[in-house]
Amino acid sequence: AAAEKGGHDYFMLKEIEEQPGAIANTLRGHLVDGRIVLDEQRLSDQDLRDVDKVFVVACGTAYHSGLLAKYAIEHWTRLPVEIELASEFRYRDPVLDRSTLVVAISQSGETADTLEALRHAKDQKARVLAICNTNGAQIPRESDAVIYTHAGPEIGVAATKTFTAQIAANYLVGLALAQARGTKYPDEVVREFEQLESIPEAVAEVLESLGEARALGQELAPSKAVLFLGRHVGYPVALEGALKLKELAYMHAEAFAAGELKHGPIALIEDGLPVVVVMPSPKGRAVLHSKLLSNIQEIKARGARTVVIAETGDETVRPFADHLFEIPAVPTLLQPLVATIPLQVIAAEIARARGYDVDKPRNLAKSVTVE
Ligand code: G6P
Repeated sequence: AAAEKGGHDYFMLKEIEEQPGAIANTLRGHLVDGRIVLDEQRLSDQDLRDVDKVFVVACGTAYHSGLLAKYAIEHWTRLPVEIELASEFRYRDPVLDRSTLVVAISQSGETADTLEALRHAKDQKARVLAICNTNGAQIPRESDAVIYTHAGPEIGVAATKTFTAQIAANYLVGLALAQARGTKYPDEVVREFEQLESIPEAVAEVLESLGEARALGQELAPSKAVLFLGRHVGYPVALEGALKLKELAYMHAEAFAAGELKHGPIALIEDGLPVVVVMPSPKGRAVLHSKLLSNIQEIKARGARTVVIAETGDETVRPFADHLFEIPAVPTLLQPLVATIPLQVIAAEIARARGYDVDKPRNLAKSVTVE
């Protein structure tokens, strides 16, 4: 069994380490003669040009990847994007028509709520695009176009490599729409694609220093709760970090948009409470960085034990970080692909230190096909 896990103690760690390949394989073949292409495209270029609104629907980790689709698609295409839990979307009366594109994200392609959300959208004539890790699953079968994440089978119940592959796929959707609408010049689309292509290398770099994250996981195992803070694209990363901890370590874990800190969460800070903060790049928008920096100071002053994920060379955070994880400098939209890695490892190691089965957490199923 150890051989199957590639010499690792649990599948999830092997799958965490497979992320550079999962991302690279997901991107492969999607830039042909300088143009972004989708899989199984039954939509014309005109259909894509006509899109005037995007909805993203998903559950669990896939939903967190979908939150990032909003930042990228709005930024690149100037289309309004709404992201919603599939279980909520399907029972609402969302305003859709034939120029709405609904993106359904599902690792398994069989999640009941996501499938029903897709059908709900199709009933109202919306176009539907699936992002899926399973060839021939029901969700891609019922969609007008697909992007397959080529992460390979995921054994660990908690999603890891499919999450980062989904982020890459979401960005391909954004670039395909930008290309169709002409909101980006063809050479800009190619440049964005090439930046995405360089991410597996940055992820591999993060994977080289997993030892620290594992050690921290062991240290944090006795904690009662862990909070996560992020802003902008760091917010979905924080949400996903908290979800991993709930799933694997059965620990109370909560993520907040850093801007909400003063609206409640700061009251939770007490001596020794671990708070994980996802720092934006100091080379990105200065305002984002400085706001997070003051948040760290505020929680540190109230006794939080700060775990900071920050760009290599960002010395500003060092005085306020009890634990600092350095990640390589990458463009803002791509930071979640590297910032997520230490959070996955910390969650798995806390679970292991607590004696839980990392690959098969209690009460959870890999794919929720019942309602
Ligand atoms: C379950 C799994 C999660 C997954 C979610 C959505 O809850 O345990 O890891 O994120 O379903 O699954 P899907 O296959 O639709 O991505």
